[in-house]
Amino acid sequence: MTRQTPHTPSRFDEIVERRGTDCAKWDLMEPVYGVPAEDGLAMWVADMDFRPPRVVQQALERLAAHGIYGYPAGTRAQDEAVSRWMTERHGWTPDPDHVFTTHGLVNGTGICVDAYTDPGDGVVLFTPVYHAFARVIRAAGREVVECELTLEGDSYVPDFEAWDAQMTGRERMMILCSPHNPGGRVWTRAELEGWAAFAKRHDLVLVSDEIHCDLTMPGQEHLAMTRIEGVADRLVMLTATTKTFNIAGAHIGNVIIADPELRARFASRMGALGISPSSFGLAMATAAMSAEGAAWVDELRAYLDGNRRLFDEGIAAIPGLRSMPLEATYLSWVDFEGLGMSRDEVLERVETQARIAVNHGPTFGKGGDHFLRFNLATPRARVKEAVKRLQAAFADLQ
Ligand SMILES: Cc1ncc(COP(=O)(O)O)c(C=O)c1O
Repeated sequence: MTRQTPHTPSRFDEIVERRGTDCAKWDLMEPVYGVPAEDGLAMWVADMDFRPPRVVQQALERLAAHGIYGYPAGTRAQDEAVSRWMTERHGWTPDPDHVFTTHGLVNGTGICVDAYTDPGDGVVLFTPVYHAFARVIRAAGREVVECELTLEGDSYVPDFEAWDAQMTGRERMMILCSPHNPGGRVWTRAELEGWAAFAKRHDLVLVSDEIHCDLTMPGQEHLAMTRIEGVADRLVMLTATTKTFNIAGAHIGNVIIADPELRARFASRMGALGISPSSFGLAMATAAMSAEGAAWVDELRAYLDGNRRLFDEGIAAIPGLRSMPLEATYLSWVDFEGLGMSRDEVLERVETQARIAVNHGPTFGKGGDHFLRFNLATPRARVKEAVKRLQAAFADLQ
């Protein structure tokens, strides 16, 4: 039995129909997973079923009302907004001149691979981790070096000694996901210092993907890698407004580089590829990083915290399933090893019986085998329904 969590009505309770809008999460659920569009629950792709703050909508409406869609003047306003946002929310102040505006962060990652490594070089990932990293690295003809995180109790921790032994000298770059998708960890200062030291020991460019940094659970404090001593000369920061404000379709992200040599190499690849952002992305991102946007994010974080509690209680009531404590992100990583069932049987219950589309663990690399990732950024009624369906699909175990 799931205990009822007290609930104050919220703007995030509104169910906005997304089916039939050409969105990946709802419109590809049936073709990809066979989960019926009619009454399936889409809990996979990492975007939210919420409207962004009104300032974002107003920025788009201003563009549409003007009705001329020529070239934008540049990225200065956005870059300055990024600098202010990071100062106010995360205690570091990027120089606006150090911000590159890419076509999103998968694009930013791809340019890093191009700029800092050669074909055949190794790029280190700490797995399980966001799946597009490996895809981009392999597509560029580089080698993915998977360093597996250790499961300690309920959470992932680094194992630098084991990883030191894995290095061959062919590695040139590492990508850290901080906060961690899919494990939901907010890495501690000591852990981040460990990664900085690891990068130094093996002479790696350290790419820190902090796209989830605004979406911490109440009480958790994300520490930007820029706040770790002695790493600035090898550091590339990735941040974005797209996860925070649910505007991933705007395809806009920030690559922030303080070191002049790393910056020049990145600028050269950006130039060679002719990459520049669209006026829509710039307008949306700049509007979002505002006082209204900040208040909206805080309300959102509290709401996601409520969803997480409800989901965790529901999962804990199914013997053999456990969800990792979520310190950040809205992505719950659920371990089904304790069920003693094959993945096919678990998926039959989750996808066919419960009709829920989720991300499969192996996509995230080594260590992901017996996990499923559930996206909780949806109105609470849907999280409740998902819990009810899961409990019914595993009812024989209770
Ligand atoms: C860690 C991480 N980086 C990057 C992305 C995607 O970034 P973008 O949409 O800007 O390409 C995601 C999306 O889930 C993510 O989790």
